[in-house]
Amino acid sequence: MEVYLDTAATSIKKPDCVYKAIDNFMRTIGASPGRSVHKQGIRASRIVTDVRDKIAGLLGINNSSHLIFTLNCTEALNLAIKGILKQGDHVVVTSLEHNSVMRPLSAMIEERDITVTRVRSDADSITDPDDLRNCLRPETVLIIMPHASNVTGTIQPIEECCRIARKHGILSLVDAAQTLGCVSIDLTRLPIDLLAFSGHKCLMGPQGVGGLYIRKGLCPVPLKYGGTGSASSEEIQPDILPDKYESGTPNTPGLAGLSAALDFIAAETIEKIRQSIFEIGKIFRDGLETIKDVVVYGPRDMRFNVGIFSFTVKRRDPAEIASELEDRFGIMIRVGLHCAPSAHKIIGTFPEGTVRASIGYFTTKEEVEYFLKSLAEICND
Ligand SMILES: Cc1ncc(COP(=O)(O)O)c(C=O)c1O
Repeated sequence: MEVYLDTAATSIKKPDCVYKAIDNFMRTIGASPGRSVHKQGIRASRIVTDVRDKIAGLLGINNSSHLIFTLNCTEALNLAIKGILKQGDHVVVTSLEHNSVMRPLSAMIEERDITVTRVRSDADSITDPDDLRNCLRPETVLIIMPHASNVTGTIQPIEECCRIARKHGILSLVDAAQTLGCVSIDLTRLPIDLLAFSGHKCLMGPQGVGGLYIRKGLCPVPLKYGGTGSASSEEIQPDILPDKYESGTPNTPGLAGLSAALDFIAAETIEKIRQSIFEIGKIFRDGLETIKDVVVYGPRDMRFNVGIFSFTVKRRDPAEIASELEDRFGIMIRVGLHCAPSAHKIIGTFPEGTVRASIGYFTTKEEVEYFLKSLAEICND
């Protein structure tokens, strides 16, 4: 038996319609969108317009031009961070940030002399909004937080934190890499200014697509400049959205796949997807607790977890557990720091890291039971 439990990195099994949509695009369309007005160019453009509208629908945005497609969530976070921050600005982040937030910030410390304050989360990796409030300064321009930690799966109180930011006239950037597609995000209600997402994790699209929502009125400096197929008589970057931020030929096959994935999610509903992860996740989390010598991190209550479980086994190297899981039982999980070193400093697993197993909508109860049985066997040896 082969079991894949690394959805937090990439969802490996996609809805059937995703494979079909990519194949269909490659075989029957294949042209560049937003440029040539021949039949195939128009069909390609329609795919991009449709997928933008579908993401807008998922987030509750009226104007889909405020959604910018990128290569992945990392590129979206870079666009937001580098595009917003200026010399001497102050930023508040959580202790859970992925390196796709911390590395551009580190570059901004060097290049623009910005300062960064990290709010310490609690032992379950939950950030207290009051702690965040206490870190604000007159020169704070931006708060950044993940919607859910990619180490422990803990869902963060983004609503309270973004409300605090809004009240103080500070911008908020939410990293929704681990949530868009499996947790409802309603931007008609949430006071979020910038939201970055991955297309290839819980959204179940292919790799090579992600995006950034930019609230109306915000104008980050573009990350890249070039041809957009619009205002071509001008050699300066057009000011219209989304063109301002989308130079060059996009990953249209990937967007076709993402579009099909969004249809699948709309038909299934986010509520059903969340409920499935809740139920399978509960079996997972409760089962982990019963295995000898296993230490599990993050909240026990699945209402606060997106289906990501980090654990260690007493007196055993996490890498050794991971290779035994794969070599003896065909189970694929991830081991190490998961690109989020400071999250491990809080839970006490730095620098060795944890074994991380993550589930998705297609993970079955049988797979989870097989995983638990296999891990118990390794721990009892
Ligand atoms: C919380 C978080 N942010 C950002 C990223 C980067 O996402 P991408 O691989 O789409 O660049 C990841 C990827 O694992 C993540 O878990």
